[in-house]
Amino acid sequence: MLIAGAGGHAIEILDILLEEIPKEQIAFFDDISDVQIIHNYFPVLKNELEVRKWFATYNGFSLGVGAVASRKILHQRLTSWGGKLVGVRSKTSVVSEFAVLDKTSDICKQVFVSSLAEVGLATLINTGAKIHHHAVVGNFCEISPGATLLGGVSVGDESAIGAGAIVLPKISICAHVIIGAGAIVTQSIAESGTYVGNPAWRIR
Ligand SMILES: CC(C)(COP(=O)(O)OP(=O)(O)OC[C@H]1O[C@@H](n2cnc3c(N)ncnc32)[C@H](O)[C@@H]1OP(=O)(O)O)[C@@H](O)C(=O)NCCC(=O)NCCS
Repeated sequence: MLIAGAGGHAIEILDILLEEIPKEQIAFFDDISDVQIIHNYFPVLKNELEVRKWFATYNGFSLGVGAVASRKILHQRLTSWGGKLVGVRSKTSVVSEFAVLDKTSDICKQVFVSSLAEVGLATLINTGAKIHHHAVVGNFCEISPGATLLGGVSVGDESAIGAGAIVLPKISICAHVIIGAGAIVTQSIAESGTYVGNPAWRIR
């Protein structure tokens, strides 16, 4: 399995993969930083040629970045090099058998996903986040560590909910919205932009 990215989120994804995959089957890809090796063991591939060689054995990759825009770009690049996005599922997460998760979504450690909740393509549910019943999260979203989406919330494509934020029941958030860390969203949001605070207000 190749982890796209070699920063902080990538090493958290590594910990999840190691719950099930032997170390020798894992490498990273990062052509931006100077990092060559992670934890003195895992190689960091640096270019398309090396990635294509790696994919000749197994072409699955995980997204090791959290930011929505970076996830999209890496997904597009590695897919065009022959890779196939595979979502991670931590064994420490609690997911209802009645939740509907896209196979490419990432469910990190200590996450809770409730009954009839839905999570879209390449969306990241980060450590300790909670997605309650009937909540629907679109494609290429990031639900940051410790954020809570209460029952019936919907989050549009490519939106990011900051760490520890709470979205109250049945609130609808449109596409391309950023919610700041610790915000409490009390009203539906129909205009893309950045919102912070309690109650959340638009800063740009
Ligand atoms: C909301 C956020 C995206 C804004 O970032 P930014 O565009 O760089 O904005 P700035 O830092 O310039 O802040 C703009 C204003 O909003 C305020 N602000 C920023 N984030 C805030 C937050 N989370 N809560 C309350 N106010 C906040 C700033 O104090 C500043 O106020 P001022 O204009 O009165 O000085 C960012 O602060 C944030 O909360 N990101 C989420 C981080 C996160 O959870 N990451 C998860 C990683 S796994």
